Amino acid sequence: MEPRIIVALDFADADSAQACVNVLSPQTCKLKVGKELFTAEGPAFVSSLVRRGFDVFLDLKFHDIPTTVARACSAAANLGVWMLNVHALGGATMMQAARDALGQADDRALLVAVTVLTSLSDADLQQIGIQEGAAQTALRLAGLAHASGADGVVCSAHEAASVRERFGDAFLRITPGIRLADDSSDDQNRIMTPSRAVQSGASYLVVGRPVTRAADPTAVLRRIEFELTEKRGVH
Ligand code: C5P
Repeated sequence: MEPRIIVALDFADADSAQACVNVLSPQTCKLKVGKELFTAEGPAFVSSLVRRGFDVFLDLKFHDIPTTVARACSAAANLGVWMLNVHALGGATMMQAARDALGQADDRALLVAVTVLTSLSDADLQQIGIQEGAAQTALRLAGLAHASGADGVVCSAHEAASVRERFGDAFLRITPGIRLADDSSDDQNRIMTPSRAVQSGASYLVVGRPVTRAADPTAVLRRIEFELTEKRGVH
């Protein structure tokens, strides 16, 4: 079965990231490369993960004028990544340009949109002129992403059910903030266990520190898989 766990490689350099990747396998997880590692190590590191057979989610959250974002998406797709993302706040024209840049091939990179950053409170949104609450804004932006041809959204597991209900199961929900029952929540505010997140409608789970900081990352992945399989009733 296709892995549903995306390990967030939030490392400062290639050596530390590599040490973690060396104990992981494309059969058990996908990988996410974000701004820190990409800025430090660049596209060559992303290509090296793709060559090793991993599905890579390039999490650079593009947000710029449509032409610039479209070109950035083409450049990212040329690295062979599985998924990339933009900010829905860039607007419909920008998201459509991003989607057009990825083409029609069956194996094209998937495009997902960030709705509202989970770090933003309702008060933060009001400061930037958005009067409706974060949950409502996230659902409205998910609608814009859906209408613009995006394949899904990055959202909190708490929003996954309403996104699935409104836009259907094929519109992906990528959810960070995942913690096993006995994990520390770190700086995440609204966390959920893997099985509850999937039951709530998450398509893929982004898991960072619970795996990357573990003494035995593969054991943690096995525990998550076990939890998911057990809850599905598959033995
Ligand atoms: O270590 P942890 O599991 O909290 O990592 C979560 C990952 O998901 C990080 O790479 C973080 O940047 C990312 N993320 C998030 N919340 C969002 C969007 C992305 O935690 N709303």
